[in-house]
Amino acid sequence: AATHHHNFVIQPKSERRLCNNQVIMTVNGQFPGPTLEVRNGDTLVIKVTNAGKYNISLHWHGIRQMRTPWADGPEYVTQCPIRPGGIYTYRFTIEDQEGTLWWHAHSKWLRATVYGALVIYPKLGSSYPFPKPSKEFPLILGEWWNRDPMQVLRQAMVTGAAPNVSDAYTINAQPGDLYACSSQDTSIFPVKSGETFLLRIINAALNQQLFFAIANHQMTVVEADAAYTKPFTTNVVMIGPGQTTNVLVTANQPPGRYYMAATAYASAPGVAFDNTTTTAILEYRRSRSSSRPVLPQLPVWNDTNTANAFTARFRSIYRGKVPLRIDENLFFTINLGQINCSRPSFRCQAPNNTRFTASMNNVSFMLPTRNSILQAMYQNTPGVFTTDFPPVPPVQFDYTGNVSRGLWTPVPGTKVYRLKFGSHVQIILQNTNIVTVEDHPMHLHGYHFFVVGTGKGNFNPTTDPARFNLVDPPARNTVGTTPGGWVAIRFVADNPGVWLMHCHLDVHIGWGLAMVFLVENGVGQLQSLESPPLDLPQC
Ligand code: C2O
Repeated sequence: AATHHHNFVIQPKSERRLCNNQVIMTVNGQFPGPTLEVRNGDTLVIKVTNAGKYNISLHWHGIRQMRTPWADGPEYVTQCPIRPGGIYTYRFTIEDQEGTLWWHAHSKWLRATVYGALVIYPKLGSSYPFPKPSKEFPLILGEWWNRDPMQVLRQAMVTGAAPNVSDAYTINAQPGDLYACSSQDTSIFPVKSGETFLLRIINAALNQQLFFAIANHQMTVVEADAAYTKPFTTNVVMIGPGQTTNVLVTANQPPGRYYMAATAYASAPGVAFDNTTTTAILEYRRSRSSSRPVLPQLPVWNDTNTANAFTARFRSIYRGKVPLRIDENLFFTINLGQINCSRPSFRCQAPNNTRFTASMNNVSFMLPTRNSILQAMYQNTPGVFTTDFPPVPPVQFDYTGNVSRGLWTPVPGTKVYRLKFGSHVQIILQNTNIVTVEDHPMHLHGYHFFVVGTGKGNFNPTTDPARFNLVDPPARNTVGTTPGGWVAIRFVADNPGVWLMHCHLDVHIGWGLAMVFLVENGVGQLQSLESPPLDLPQC
């Protein structure tokens, strides 16, 4: 196996989109950032120098980080941020993972522009479980603001209101020519008639699940979140922030130019979202560039049926890996909410003296500020976190019914839940109707979990488990919790460390839609981990 060394310099750069100049944070002046290409089993050593003006940390989304939680990246969870002028080297090995993942900043809203693809090829001498495509393209969906995203976030947090929505969606950092003042800013994907190519689709958008389609072309899904799936063919892909989906496409149409397009899937009525459409162009060789491309049919923004039907088709190609016995049976409600601003520590200027909040089991997660949870755990520093995250909601209620207002007030805290190393874990993620119904793409760091079941309404512990797929459920690192419903996941807690679980809509993390697992290796200690790198940033 090889070791790959990279230098990532976080630096500001002026970019022009939609006739608007913005100074954005980048890696090495690239937007999107560099694509990392490795093989399964390789080691990555990435020296990050912060030449920007904000604190930052980088996360390798979906990488399991076995025995190297120090390299996972979420600020104040596994490390203190890298300060302006600071340097930190991330070092980790890819263990038994293949496919498309990505990397992004894990500090405030910096991931709006600081992101890139992470492509893991099979080991030398092994191959894909599908015919080798003639070429491959990363296709990264993102969002563009005509303002500094850090200012958008700051304003939202100060006012307690929902943040401004983005001004455009993007494909490989280009909005596409359907936007005003954007005719030159379109990504082109050149192909030859008859060839079959692989698109590595990544949703790096900050706050939006997206539908994606290609005019006149079908897509065959073969992998998601770096796990191979049984191939299935579709006209439309729904992808949540954090998720990746690999599709094979055959250029079997008359030579020409075809739009590839993405637009919002937003299941929440009354919640503001960017309703624009981003495009790129699939361009056959020798097609006339003057011809106007055809647009694909995209579902309407609130087409939950299409989104759910698509997600339900995923099946793993692996069998017999799902934990059948359960040691930890957890039930987490995923809530949005509004709380009164007069509550201590929650000052704001929002209308009606309330601000938005979000919580899991009624705990609104607060990041520590004086240390990271992992460092505090490793060094036994008290006062940074508490271990009383509740395994079930403090009160039971009709989660998807008419929820009484009294249940909208969560408790702020930095609460973690302890898992014994090696335990078999099941979590029911129950979406609630508090304030509004929205699909939350829930991401777990340090693990791949199996999505064993999903359903509408309140989870029924007596009848629903009988319908679980324990044979070939998909393995993922990010799963949407269906609006007005629930999803069941399982994993074996075989990776010691401190692992964040959160909604990958970044506005919801800011409101507290997160919790942390502490997976102990031995008797309440993490000593068997690799010791912290000497250059690990201090707070
Ligand atoms: Cu891709 Cu915690 O994030």
